[in-house]
Amino acid sequence: MKELLVMNHITMDFHVKKQLFSSLIIRAVDDVSLKLEGGESIGIVGESGSGKTTLGRLALRLLKPTGGDLLFRGQDITRASEANLKVFRRQAQGIFQDPFASIDPFMNVHQILEEPLLIHRVGSQDVRRELISQALKEVKLTPVNDFLPRYTHTLSGGQRQRVAVGRALILRPDFILADEPVSMIDASSRAEILYLFKELQEKHGISFLYVTHDIATAGYFCRQMAVMYLGKIVEFGRTSSLIRKPHHPYTQALIRAVPSPDPSNRTHERLVISGESPSPIKPPPGCRFHPRCPNFIVGKCDVKLPQMVAVGEDHSTACYLYP
Ligand SMILES: Nc1ncnc2c1ncn2[C@@H]1O[C@H](COP(=O)(O)OP(=O)(O)OP(=O)(O)O)[C@@H](O)[C@H]1O
Ligand code: SF4
Ligand SMILES: [Mg+2]
Repeated sequence: MKELLVMNHITMDFHVKKQLFSSLIIRAVDDVSLKLEGGESIGIVGESGSGKTTLGRLALRLLKPTGGDLLFRGQDITRASEANLKVFRRQAQGIFQDPFASIDPFMNVHQILEEPLLIHRVGSQDVRRELISQALKEVKLTPVNDFLPRYTHTLSGGQRQRVAVGRALILRPDFILADEPVSMIDASSRAEILYLFKELQEKHGISFLYVTHDIATAGYFCRQMAVMYLGKIVEFGRTSSLIRKPHHPYTQALIRAVPSPDPSNRTHERLVISGESPSPIKPPPGCRFHPRCPNFIVGKCDVKLPQMVAVGEDHSTACYLYP
């Protein structure tokens, strides 16, 4: 399948003012390369602060990378101006944890869905009304006329997220970044939204980058997965292979930390990753995971950064345990 979004050695440094004349550099994303094909879904998983949201914002070009290149449909958009990003802004949409944080609370569902159509000058009033109605049906907010006049504070968490999905869909995008889209809603709505994503992806062939700290939901929805640690991808592979046979000690620990659905296993002690994730201001030398790694090889892991190596078909990891 054709590559839709390509990230080549992308780096993102944030300069944070420390005192009047000095600043600190936070390398939130460090030399990340990723290819998302048409109709594909990649899960970006990792602990808090690993750089997932920053990577997602870079993919949507809401941030300009400080290093590397970003290509969409073969076109270099790394440093493109907003005027030159017009088509991209239509084809690439985002769904976030709190979908209406930046939306006027006095807008009703009709206005929320109509806004992107107005921004991109799509259709007459009648055409827009029809597109809004279609989008609400697709996200299963029916009867449509009951939902159109409602304000978001009158909706449940699951319904609010459905409106956000409808708003993302209305411009018929090729690519959706979903950043923790189900982490604030109850378990049954969570399953329904994930099911809806799958359905929409199959129906419209939309490509997804699905950002989450929850490897289990990413495992359900994504065909491929990238595991991030302190700004770097440490393991990448097909979900089936990565979950069944995780290679990197960090991925292994993330998978062991997932609660078992079998109630008889709930009493077993779950292994969690010991220690805090180090600061990206001063990352540890060598393998960034070495201060927390149970397999740490002295004089090797703490000296040089391991590179990604193939450990299976479409499966690679950056760890010295694999030659
Ligand atoms: N605008 C910013 N200015 C300075 N530092 C930032 C900025 N945005 C992110 N960071 C830092 O970059 C690092 C990665 O942050 P990011 O939000 O991408 O992580 P995350 O994996 O999404 O975490 P979480 O799971 O908590 O959402 C963190 O150390 C964060 O403090
Ligand atoms: S390179 Fe070394 S420290 Fe890093 S994950 Fe592998 S064994 Fe652990
Ligand atoms: Mg985040």
